Amino acid sequence: MSHVPTAGPLAGKRVLVSAGPTYEDIDPVRFVGNRSSGKMGFAVAAAARDAGAEVVLVAGPVHMDTPAGVSRIDVRSAAQMHAAVLGALPADVYVGAAAVADFTPRRVSEHKIKKTAGTDTLVLELVRTPDILADVSAHPQRPALVVGFAAETHDVARYARGKLVAKRLDLIAANLVGGAEGGFERDDNALAVYWDGGERPLGPASKHEVAAQLVDLIAGRLPA
Ligand code: CTP
Repeated sequence: MSHVPTAGPLAGKRVLVSAGPTYEDIDPVRFVGNRSSGKMGFAVAAAARDAGAEVVLVAGPVHMDTPAGVSRIDVRSAAQMHAAVLGALPADVYVGAAAVADFTPRRVSEHKIKKTAGTDTLVLELVRTPDILADVSAHPQRPALVVGFAAETHDVARYARGKLVAKRLDLIAANLVGGAEGGFERDDNALAVYWDGGERPLGPASKHEVAAQLVDLIAGRLPA
């Protein structure tokens, strides 16, 4: 079985995908992270490859095998992911599936932070990270299709459509997190995809099936 089809709806297209969490270091042994497994982004990368695309996958710290035929760039922090994603342009499609930290410690302590006798609290000052998705969308080499993800606990359509407009995206794939239904650490998923003037539910199904449906939708909305 060939892992790199040369035919398919995305043949000749370059697809850039980000996946996984980012880890924001506090000191040499501690970091701020999140529970993203990277499964959805890796599934999107594999599905885009199956659709014939050349795929570059920028991955945060995850325990996932690289899909065959996909070029992988490993990063740790939001700043590193930002540099790697922008450095991998141009691309025809960007899918921002990574759960990028919104905040990072203002400074990384060179030494392990010690408990101080008599002090019961530690204040960690965090600053905003660059918004990779918004920067890709505003980039001079903007991909023809920029696709974001949104994890929402409520009012999914309203918040997802808000991000679609605010970040000037072509598509946004929203999933409901925090309840019984959706989530970071699961193998199956259901998404609601929104664009200007339309929407489509994908799944519930395996992340692989949902990724294949998302790639079909992407291919259909990509200018020829
Ligand atoms: N994203 C990004 N760079 C960041 C933060 C997020 O590229 N620094 C991308 C993610 O990859 C995802 C989308 O933006 O595609 C998520 O949008 P965001 O507004 O960050 O969602 P939330 O983190 O859920 O934001 P909020 O807390 O405002 O709901």
